[in-house]
Amino acid sequence: MISVTYSGNLNHVITDEKWNELHTIHHQLYQKQGAGSEFLGWLDWPSNASESWLGHIQQTAERIREQADVLIVIGIGGSYLGAKAVIEALSPYFQTEKEFEVIFAGQHVNGAYLKQLMQYVEGRDVALNVISKSGTTTEPALAFRFLQQYMTDRYGSEAAERIYVTTDANKGALLDLAKQKGYQRFVVPDDVGGRYSVLTAVGLLPIAAAGFDIKALVQGAHAAENELSDLSKDNPAIQYAALRHHLYEEGFTNEVLATFEPALSYVQEWWKQLYGESEGKEQKGIFPVSVTYTTDLHSLGQYIQDGKRNLFETFMILDEADDDLDVFEATDDADQLNYLAGTSLHDFNLVAYEGTSQAHLSGGVPQVAIRLPKLDEYHLGYFLYFFMLSCAYSAYQLDINPFDQPGVEAYKTNIFKLLKKPGFES
Ligand code: PA5
Repeated sequence: MISVTYSGNLNHVITDEKWNELHTIHHQLYQKQGAGSEFLGWLDWPSNASESWLGHIQQTAERIREQADVLIVIGIGGSYLGAKAVIEALSPYFQTEKEFEVIFAGQHVNGAYLKQLMQYVEGRDVALNVISKSGTTTEPALAFRFLQQYMTDRYGSEAAERIYVTTDANKGALLDLAKQKGYQRFVVPDDVGGRYSVLTAVGLLPIAAAGFDIKALVQGAHAAENELSDLSKDNPAIQYAALRHHLYEEGFTNEVLATFEPALSYVQEWWKQLYGESEGKEQKGIFPVSVTYTTDLHSLGQYIQDGKRNLFETFMILDEADDDLDVFEATDDADQLNYLAGTSLHDFNLVAYEGTSQAHLSGGVPQVAIRLPKLDEYHLGYFLYFFMLSCAYSAYQLDINPFDQPGVEAYKTNIFKLLKKPGFES
């Protein structure tokens, strides 16, 4: 379903030594014996997702769509990027009559954003889904403080009917608050970390509320779970991980994820979080960056072609475009584009990919390509699972625990000290 290709020779990358290493990692993963293995719940999540559980999420989403015109989803990092990535990838670029809208908040701290959001939704019915596994993250907690008050001011005691909380089953300030106020709750499983949680209620409730088919999304991920679990040199998840590690060891310590599809820009953001937060530890890891072409060929393209030679490029190529335009023949050809007549804009991009990839390769940038057959729920579910699985292999090759994020505590502690949060004064 997904294919991975490389500008070099893949057989030279997966040497006997590398294969033995991948063999060990495969067993660590599937026998749940590697570092952080208590967070491997996502690995067989798609095959464990029951019809009734998916049905419950779907029904809640339908209820939200009946009671509201706008769902505000509050969360940060893994508690927002998965849903945002899927919704952006599948939504039309322009919607004049928005019947139902999903808007994100709490992914940053910004007074103007929150104030204008509250003004923007005035006159339309609103529901809230606040998502935080720990239930204590400052950014979403702050946004929720304002938005919960907004809901109470607007709906009085009925606000509780419109607020949905996704958090840990047993602990956290958000859980206590949800119980106290009687908000409907969804669980972030203990054994699934934020950036691996897109197929749990964290991602599925907002995605279903946005009107997308969560069953197809999970079915796609289920197919990936089955097809990518083989220990095989033809397994694209293993190939991608092996390539990344090989290139890293050759000194290519930055990976540029490139796409010609603006719709995939939040899949890129999700990917950056997944790989950056999973691998960047102990002074190791590939730094993940992203570009959208051809837009960025007119900016970062210069650096990629000619700048410091420590980066490789991974293209996400969409084989089939659902919606497209063919260039037509103009009678006067004043713009001198008639040579393109009959070519679709998607075909133009496929050619632009070839040309760009060859140019960057000749500039010393190794090239990886991942081909996605189609952009729909099923294929996206497959794709996201592919990236999560490959990320686990990648981090284990670096001897890194893919499932913790100790480094994100340092900035928080400083902010708390500066703001004199009780317990942090000294
Ligand atoms: O991937 C992760 O674990 C993190 O990015 C978290 O999702 C993020 O920090 C938000 O955490 P929480 O859901 O506890 O508010």
